Amino acid sequence: MPDPFFLYFYLKRSTMSTSIFKTFLNFTRNIKTTGAIFETSARVENEICSKIGPHSKLVIEYGTGYGNLTAKILERLPKDGKLIAFEVNEDFVAAVKAKFNDPRLTVVKHSAVELPAYIDQPIQNIVSSIPFTLIPKEEGDAIIQQSHDHMADGGYFSQVLYSKFHLKRFKKHFSKCEVKVVPNIPIEHVYHCLK
Ligand SMILES: C[S@@+](CC[C@H](N)C(=O)[O-])C[C@H]1O[C@@H](n2cnc3c(N)ncnc32)[C@H](O)[C@@H]1O
Repeated sequence: MPDPFFLYFYLKRSTMSTSIFKTFLNFTRNIKTTGAIFETSARVENEICSKIGPHSKLVIEYGTGYGNLTAKILERLPKDGKLIAFEVNEDFVAAVKAKFNDPRLTVVKHSAVELPAYIDQPIQNIVSSIPFTLIPKEEGDAIIQQSHDHMADGGYFSQVLYSKFHLKRFKKHFSKCEVKVVPNIPIEHVYHCLK
């Protein structure tokens, strides 16, 4: 169980509309695929979406959960942009489909590794919160490589993780990677990797 004081402060400062307890319970119940017990923080939401702009005609999201990052991406996505979101958990897929009524969004109940089957144009941005620590190494490496191969030059793969440990896996493919450290409990790291 998390520290009750931490939970109290987290609840106080949270801006999420979804019930925090419902999220906490369902993230915990599915810990092997969520890799977290809370949604990413509001500061990470802003940082991880910061590379999305008017040029972002196709954005991909990996790991929607209840759609906190999905909402931020849709805020920044151009009117004629498209967002394809991959999520392995069917309850989260159903929740996100019910939450957003936006013709720019397609939610796919599949792993990020299935990306190539859904892409017919270059991707400008990938926003990912999937837990690379828990995903088998071969599958994780395939996700990074395929993502890179389907991105436009100048595109960004932005990933949030609790450590810098996986950065070298991204550096193998991307020309430049920078990390923004977001002080929190636990500390969150946003990798921005440029193709
Ligand atoms: C840490 S949660 C993040 C949820 C939310 N986007 C956030 O930022 O708080 C990770 C999410 O990735 C999903 N996930 C895990 N492995 C995945 C994969 N291979 N492909 C797509 N989604 C995956 C989990 O089901 C979970 O919803």
